[in-house]
Amino acid sequence: MRVVDVIAKKRDGDTLSREEIELFVNGVTCGTLPDYQASALLMAIVLRGMTIEETSWLTDSIVNSGTRVDLSDIPGVKVGKHSTGGVGDKVSIVLAPLAAACGVVMPKMSGRGLGHTGGTLDKLESIPGYRVDLDVDEFKTVLKEVGTSIIGQTASLVPADKKLYALRDVTATIGSIPLISASVMSKKLAEGSDVVMLDVKCGDGAFMKDEGSARALASTMVAIGTRAGVRTEAFITDMNTPLGRAVGNSLEIVECLDTLQGRGPADLSEVVKRFATRALVLAGRESDDASALRRIDQALLSGKAIETLGRMIERQGGDRRVIDDYSLLPSVAGREHCVAPRDGFVSAVKAGAIGVAANLLGAGRSNVDDRVDPAVGVVLHAKPGARVTRGQPLMEIHHRSGRAVSEALSICSTAFTITDDPPVVHPVILGDVR
Ligand code: URA
Repeated sequence: MRVVDVIAKKRDGDTLSREEIELFVNGVTCGTLPDYQASALLMAIVLRGMTIEETSWLTDSIVNSGTRVDLSDIPGVKVGKHSTGGVGDKVSIVLAPLAAACGVVMPKMSGRGLGHTGGTLDKLESIPGYRVDLDVDEFKTVLKEVGTSIIGQTASLVPADKKLYALRDVTATIGSIPLISASVMSKKLAEGSDVVMLDVKCGDGAFMKDEGSARALASTMVAIGTRAGVRTEAFITDMNTPLGRAVGNSLEIVECLDTLQGRGPADLSEVVKRFATRALVLAGRESDDASALRRIDQALLSGKAIETLGRMIERQGGDRRVIDDYSLLPSVAGREHCVAPRDGFVSAVKAGAIGVAANLLGAGRSNVDDRVDPAVGVVLHAKPGARVTRGQPLMEIHHRSGRAVSEALSICSTAFTITDDPPVVHPVILGDVR
């Protein structure tokens, strides 16, 4: 069997066998398959799709490229969570310590920025010293001691996803239901969760632009999890507007710290609390949503949630003093504003444009070897529904020495729509798939 024949088969729209998919994934894992062949097959999958069997085999092969974490010696139901990627999506960094503070064990293997979307690992790495590359024993130790640990793919945990993820980021091969499903679910199955909650983002700033495709992606991932014997559920959430106000790595960490202290933006807090409520019920910590929510509010108010994040940061080598002193996080002096061109109401802030602008400023990658700039990004001063007057700042760009400022400003100015009448503001949680 030759990989070139496998590429041709998928190019022509045929169904691949389990062996052909394993050949591809093994070649990626061992480094024997050149990037150009891997990229060609990825593009063929984007264009031709995969059946649910092929997607399941791809997921299995990626899981089997490394080890599967055995968490059976840690008591309790282990609840995993993953997002399909959005702009300003920092839910996991707030949710994981919050859920852990409420007694839920939450193992979490995350990813880096993908396309115009940010990545949990890049955000966490803006905390000085924070290590995402723990080995399995270290991961389990932090999980036992803190109740949560957020790490990345490593040479022993889904190494094939680590490589494919980086390649997809720079070859325009992200937006594909089988590729997203296999990438997300391989991490969830390998991390050892008993139950998985998915946040399937939908809208302008998501890979799935409409609710129909978001539901199709959610159903595929739920089917893969269920086949693997892991209870899997998905919420579909809005990603037409960036979540929260901050977009960019350390800027988002600041917003996470605020949210864990009860001072977060309403939309972010709502999504976090919905997932946390479900996590407590799924883990059997509370029997209903109302009592789960009381426990969550208590963990936020008492300081237990932020304290849990502090312990996770410390146990993963990071400087936990960032919690009290935000000036320890990377920042840049450069600022530019985008102002309202007229009086009216903000009726839309396009998440896709804001994500592209943040990337251009240096918050994301264009090449596999690019390093992200942890300090740059965008802070929104107005979200849909806000009344604004001409000249009022709508958003602020944090830039390093002028890099890409004019491009970012012109992209951001197209992101805002201002109308005479107040818009209908849509709910952030659009539905679920169970
Ligand atoms: N998150 C992942 O882990 N993989 C994807 O492909 C998209 C989002």
